[in-house]
Amino acid sequence: MKFETIAIRKQTERSQHKEHSTPIFTTSSFVFDDAEHMRAVFAEEQSGNVYSRYSNPSVKEFEEKITLLEGAEDARATASGMSAIFTTFACFLSSGDHVLMSQAVFGSTIKLMENYFQKWGVTWTLVNSTEATEWEKAIKPNTKLAYLETPSNPGLEVFDLESLSTVFKSNNILSVVDNCFATPYIQQPIKWGIDIVIHSATKYIDGQGRVMGGVIAGSKEHMSKIEPFMRNAGPTLAPFNAWVLSKSLETLAVRMDRHCNNALSLAQWLETQPKIKRVNYPFLDSHKQKNVAQKQMKAGGGIVAFEVVGDYAEAVKLIDNTNLFSISPNLGDTRSIITHPASSTHSKLTEQQRLDVGITKSLIRISTGLEHIDDIIADIEYAISKI
Ligand SMILES: Cc1ncc(COP(=O)(O)O)c(C=O)c1O
Repeated sequence: MKFETIAIRKQTERSQHKEHSTPIFTTSSFVFDDAEHMRAVFAEEQSGNVYSRYSNPSVKEFEEKITLLEGAEDARATASGMSAIFTTFACFLSSGDHVLMSQAVFGSTIKLMENYFQKWGVTWTLVNSTEATEWEKAIKPNTKLAYLETPSNPGLEVFDLESLSTVFKSNNILSVVDNCFATPYIQQPIKWGIDIVIHSATKYIDGQGRVMGGVIAGSKEHMSKIEPFMRNAGPTLAPFNAWVLSKSLETLAVRMDRHCNNALSLAQWLETQPKIKRVNYPFLDSHKQKNVAQKQMKAGGGIVAFEVVGDYAEAVKLIDNTNLFSISPNLGDTRSIITHPASSTHSKLTEQQRLDVGITKSLIRISTGLEHIDDIIADIEYAISKI
């Protein structure tokens, strides 16, 4: 079956009520026929749900859809994108290990290393390049894991998943990609040889800014390392959130088509504006890695980043003069969102860390929503006129 059909038709088995839409299983625990049944399920001689920290039908439905849509063998859902990242690092890293990490990753991911994994004896190198040769040069004998986002946030750099995964595989390094900006509809990193995909499902997978969620997907072997941590540490996704996210996947393809079309039109229009100096969008002719983007992505995604001519004052003037846009740090919503990364999402990084990945004070990030493109452009045109 094709992506859209799986996203709609993969569902929990119907109950005797013959419901059309899957119900939400809001239960913390499950009951057994008798003590022997309970013993057998606990001993894993029989399958069955025990406790919602371990498994839950609503969560399972979401996990099974993601497994198929990402081309993985298994998936586990987590309470947020950050808990997916933390869980993955916690399960695969030990004291003495070294991590290669793209410098252009979500700020909290770097904070996880600085505040926690460092004190547990893990070291890391931030790689400020999309080139596989630069990643290869940064490999150490104890490099265990490589981590990146593509397209990156907010610079929209594109990493060649095929050539990077070849380097990682030949050096026996576990590769992990945050696929949050693209979604599995646009890009499937596992197809290009990446081992593990993680998501902040809070973004496009929900798509309407309602719930937090995350997910980790990979081979059965890798996911078997994640499983005990889920049970014992409990970063589990709530059934209600899983139900929302599973329902949201039903519309992911149509939403992403519109997000991407609107974003491309907005990016092309911004490039014609004299008060705008640099527009980043993977499918623009001016994007350095457009060829790589077109090889591994179905479309350019919904995020556009650009610099205004000027500095902080001019960027803020533009943001404050929008009327349609929501001023918010989130992304991947039906509503268009405008953000100033340097003073919000990436404010905890040092100025040098920001500049290294192109986050200047004049940089603005837009998460292009599903409103009519004419209204989106008209609102930005008005805001630019106020600079
Ligand atoms: C690319 C990326 N990865 C991970 C996260 C963290 O996800 P969450 O907020 O669901 O914990 C975010 C959040 O903004 C993000 O943008």
